[in-house]
Amino acid sequence: GISQQAQGLPVAVPAAAAQPAGKVTILYASQTGNAKGVAEALKAQADAAGVAAELFNVADYKVKQLKKETHVLIVTSTNGEGEPPDDAIEFHKQLKGGKVGKLEGLHYGVLALGDSSYEFFCQTGKDFDDYLAKAGATRLLERIDCDVDYEGAAEGWSKSALGLLKDALQVEAANHAAPVVSLTQGAASLYSKKHPFAAELVTNQKITGRDSDKDIRHIEISLEGSGLTYQPGDALGVWFSNDEALVDALLAQVGVAADAKVKVDDELLSIREALIHHYELTQGYAGFVQAYAELSGAKKLQKLAQDKAALREYCASHQILDIVREKKTRLTAEQLQGALRRLTPRLYSIASAQAEVEEEVHLTVGVVRYDNKGEPRAGGASSFLADRLAEGGQVRVFVEHNDNFRLPADDSTPVIMVGPGTGIAPFRAFMQEREARDAEGKNWLFFGNPHFTQDFLYQLEWQRYVKSGLLSRISLAFSRDQADKVYVQHKLRQQGAEVYAWLEQGAHFYVCGDANKMAKDVHEALIELVAEHGNKSREQAEEYVDALRSAKRYQRDVY
Ligand code: 2AM
Repeated sequence: GISQQAQGLPVAVPAAAAQPAGKVTILYASQTGNAKGVAEALKAQADAAGVAAELFNVADYKVKQLKKETHVLIVTSTNGEGEPPDDAIEFHKQLKGGKVGKLEGLHYGVLALGDSSYEFFCQTGKDFDDYLAKAGATRLLERIDCDVDYEGAAEGWSKSALGLLKDALQVEAANHAAPVVSLTQGAASLYSKKHPFAAELVTNQKITGRDSDKDIRHIEISLEGSGLTYQPGDALGVWFSNDEALVDALLAQVGVAADAKVKVDDELLSIREALIHHYELTQGYAGFVQAYAELSGAKKLQKLAQDKAALREYCASHQILDIVREKKTRLTAEQLQGALRRLTPRLYSIASAQAEVEEEVHLTVGVVRYDNKGEPRAGGASSFLADRLAEGGQVRVFVEHNDNFRLPADDSTPVIMVGPGTGIAPFRAFMQEREARDAEGKNWLFFGNPHFTQDFLYQLEWQRYVKSGLLSRISLAFSRDQADKVYVQHKLRQQGAEVYAWLEQGAHFYVCGDANKMAKDVHEALIELVAEHGNKSREQAEEYVDALRSAKRYQRDVY
């Protein structure tokens, strides 16, 4: 009775009033910078709301520290096949191993970023959520798994988290109006994902041969007047519009009039305009398959929606038009719009260094082309750049910095680069940079593609670099020039002793290109060659490679 009465009287609780106000710790684990951007916006919102907040990259945060926290929010992306971002490998490993012990006093929330076209969607966020719950911590709010168009969902989650924190930390609402802090604030340049620069396409040149199975373009874009800058390792974000013929075919298929009006970001547009500029049509995705399965009652789609693996495979080769053709159904403009996902820009690894090309930016673009029931289909951004944009035309771009793919700071450090196919792009940038800097470190390129005569991308440039001595070694794997397939990982194994020797000399090891198969096989080859030539057990070799990663001497840009 007495204590309850006392609680009703503010003057009677000196002990509580003397307690320091609580704080929240915001941790981020970012690969390309998206998670970092979300975490920074969250921190800015907390500051503006009067919630004491500290922000850390998990790479700079000791897991043990969690024992001292009461409130933690984690913003994390997922890398490749469900792995943590490079910066979070150590943190993830320790949390997983239960090294931190019990965390019963901790309240937490997890915001996971990912790409639902990958099998292990948002896996690292799921892991963190799971490990913290197992350690006895309590969820402040449910985890959210965001897809590539994460901005809206991330802003909503951030707002909820802050509301809950204000209550939990008893922040006085009095003198702080609720701020609206956009995710795009704090960007270094005037131009960003949300405010891209309208750049001129200077060159679009096919660099695979006439008889190649592949259509790969060397693209040059002018950044003149934008003030945009980049470093080797960065990516260029490219916005694009859809093929008008594809949009018209889709509208006809579902019986929607082209001039039907819809609202996009509070703007009234014709559905035709909306589909050309704002919605994703050139890839299938789970959300659309599910929505159209319901709208159409198509049995095949309903079954697919239940089977994740089959759905993923289906989506890889069926565009929105192919999906609605599974069962003819009339839709309203709103139904169609509601089932579609917003268009997101594509990121291309930059293939040039500003030290060499100044206000230009170069890309190496593999044009996605395939057939569906005899009709040609093409990737959204790649066919926009290759087919629909004339030289002199405009393309909206922004720079996406990637601190996880950087040349060694020390110019004398050796560099090993593994970049088959379009994975060659960032290494062209690396070599331009090292040439301009007169870097004395050795450089070794592993490149692969189907045929020497058709697919040796930038052949003359590499030959020039070999001649000048900039490129110390080049190892080529033309997979289809002989009866048996030869891939870059075979070349790595063959040269294993030398590769290991370079690593022992402090070399940095880079891999760019296909994440599904190539990067995994190269990773395996790396472990094997370290075991063999370093006289190590499998486990010791894995530790050696893990240590390379943690030291940022093994970096990957895979997709
Ligand atoms: P393929 O198409 O002849 O099988 C760039 O795409 C190059 O990478 C091609 O030569 C391709 O060979 C090759 N490639 C395909 N699968 C690979 C894998 N698992 N590892 C490395 N290279 C691979």
